[in-house]
Amino acid sequence: MNVYEIRGAFGLDNLVRAERPDPVPGPFQVRVRVKATSLNSRDLMMVEGRYNPRQKLPLVPNSDGAGVVDAVGPGVTRVKVGDRVMTLFAQGWQSGEPTKAITATTLGGPLDGALADTLLLHEDGVVPTPAYLSDEEAATLPCAAVTAWSALVTQGGLKAGDTVLVQGTGGVSIFALQIARLFGAHVIVTSSRDDKLERALKLGAHEGINYVTTPDWEKAARTLTGGVGVDHVVEVGGSGTFEKSLKALRVGGTVSVIGVLSGGAGTVSLVPILMQNLRVQGVFVGHRQSFEALTRAFTLHDVHPVVDRVFPFAEARAAFEHMKQGAHFGKIVIKVS
Ligand SMILES: NC(=O)c1ccc[n+]([C@@H]2O[C@H](COP(=O)([O-])OP(=O)(O)OC[C@H]3O[C@@H](n4cnc5c(N)ncnc54)[C@H](OP(=O)(O)O)[C@@H]3O)[C@@H](O)[C@H]2O)c1
Repeated sequence: MNVYEIRGAFGLDNLVRAERPDPVPGPFQVRVRVKATSLNSRDLMMVEGRYNPRQKLPLVPNSDGAGVVDAVGPGVTRVKVGDRVMTLFAQGWQSGEPTKAITATTLGGPLDGALADTLLLHEDGVVPTPAYLSDEEAATLPCAAVTAWSALVTQGGLKAGDTVLVQGTGGVSIFALQIARLFGAHVIVTSSRDDKLERALKLGAHEGINYVTTPDWEKAARTLTGGVGVDHVVEVGGSGTFEKSLKALRVGGTVSVIGVLSGGAGTVSLVPILMQNLRVQGVFVGHRQSFEALTRAFTLHDVHPVVDRVFPFAEARAAFEHMKQGAHFGKIVIKVS
């Protein structure tokens, strides 16, 4: 099998191609021929050693993949040879609350991931691909879409008529936009670029705020809600945005803490959280049950992931460079075979 592995030390220069023996499925295992893998911000951080500097190397990065089952071991009942499947981000998380042990079962670190033409996974670690999606589209769902679903639906209790503010136009945020629209919510998108805001409006967002030209975007968001504040903020900015996100919320609103793009440390006044009855919820992607609920809803409503660009397997490093530049809108995909 062919893989890319981070070898020797972290850094994009050390992301190299390698050959490994083709795996043979043991009991309850499935072998997947990977057709496509998508990039998450986490994958770039993993390659650069910023996600977990203690991660053991070599490591095959990428949590998200889609492909076809080509061999199954004894006892497998969930899938059969020929089935199209996607990876489950945390292989051990089927439903319920996560545990420390579950958080150690994530693909693309600590477990070898999907930047490979072949994966050997437990049958519980794959989810059927909806027939209407291409492999490139399906490969975008396991981390970013499930995270947005967990934030807004599984943990967030989103309702028709709610106002959701999504930050930026990357993978998680564009899925959050699509899911919020699916539930009949009002969507405000922030972005550093007006052309991206225009694309977000075409995709169904109701309002856009440029957070560079309008640094007080939280005030602009409040104004857009008649001074009330939004029901839910999908927070990916981190320390640079968190306090503003609290200010954008209505009394009793919820902020989903998902990303720390501008940093993960800082000081925050806790007073608004208690005085305004705010809910701050951390989100760690999500479980199989959420993933399956998401695919049912997307299938029924014919929701297609927004794919920014597809790179060939031979140009995997260029895909990571593209993510680093931050010019993408939605998801970056690598076609594997
Ligand atoms: N907790 C979880 O389970 C989970 C799951 C997935 C991702 N994440 C995290 O969520 C974040 C986003 O991940 P992703 O894969 O969607 O990334 P991505 O596709 O690279 O999207 C990043 C986008 O966020 C926007 N952005 C960057 N800095 C910002 C800032 N300071 N304030 C507001 N927006 C900003 C930019 O949008 P514009 O270009 O439009 O400005 C940028 O394109 C990352 O930190 C990632 O690690 C967490």
